[in-house]
Amino acid sequence: MILLNGKETADAIKLEIAAEVEAIVSKGGRRPHLAAILVGDDGASRTYVASKEKACSQVGFKSTVLRFPADITEQFLLEEITKLNVDADIDGFIVQLPLPKHINEQNVINAIDPSKDVDGFHPVNVGKLSLGEPTFISATPYGIITLLEHYNIETKGKHCVVLGRSNIVGRPIANLLSQKGAVGDCTVTMCHSRTKDIKSYTLQADIIIAAIGVPQFLKSDMVKEGAVVVDVGITRIPADNKNGFRLVGDVDFETVAPKCSYITPVPGGVGPMTIISLLKNTLRAARNRA
Ligand code: GUN
Repeated sequence: MILLNGKETADAIKLEIAAEVEAIVSKGGRRPHLAAILVGDDGASRTYVASKEKACSQVGFKSTVLRFPADITEQFLLEEITKLNVDADIDGFIVQLPLPKHINEQNVINAIDPSKDVDGFHPVNVGKLSLGEPTFISATPYGIITLLEHYNIETKGKHCVVLGRSNIVGRPIANLLSQKGAVGDCTVTMCHSRTKDIKSYTLQADIIIAAIGVPQFLKSDMVKEGAVVVDVGITRIPADNKNGFRLVGDVDFETVAPKCSYITPVPGGVGPMTIISLLKNTLRAARNRA
């Protein structure tokens, strides 16, 4: 069993991005600038945004975080987005999800200029992705593809079972892995909460992408010997430590790992790859604008 080390892979890519940024700046170009909007004080969202800020500073990007209380109106948020859309100093921005219940997430996503939508959530970018056109690929699926590529994992002709049908992970990763190309050409099955007998599918899988949001859902009796397992889950469960929680994936790592050819750990697997993908998209946005 080989660990798919997202932390190490992301650190290597960070050095490449940092070198590119310095090359841009030394030729008189602007530093790429990523902005994030954070509404409310959800603990996980705050942590993610802080990680994104830290990663920006590590590669030499400018970053700005706009923090708003949970009780702002949807109209207020839409106006803030319009300001970022027209701000010539901002190359790309994200609105951290989830948003408070009274704000319609799709209205918010639709308001983002697709050329600054480095999360790849806007319908224009989702449409381009599903057509196989160049676009901002949303960060988690992009990170998974990059990680599989980095470890030279063969996907051509393999059966990939995706657990979860979210717009952020399940659907786009299923789409990407089924497309023609280097990390593609898979036969993809998508399972979700209404799938009957999920185990009958996962047992046939050469590659499993677990993005179902249920801690330790995938057990060892659901996995074929030699499978590649990618764990996208990241749930905080109470623990007796200084944070008061620990992070658990959608895979029962202890029992599943011995059966795998490759597996991602949680933390240190997909998470760091997601952040690096956001940086790659921001660099792309900055290049497009230059
Ligand atoms: N919440 C969980 N994942 C993401 C993500 O990739 N982008 C944004 N904006 N919010 C998220």
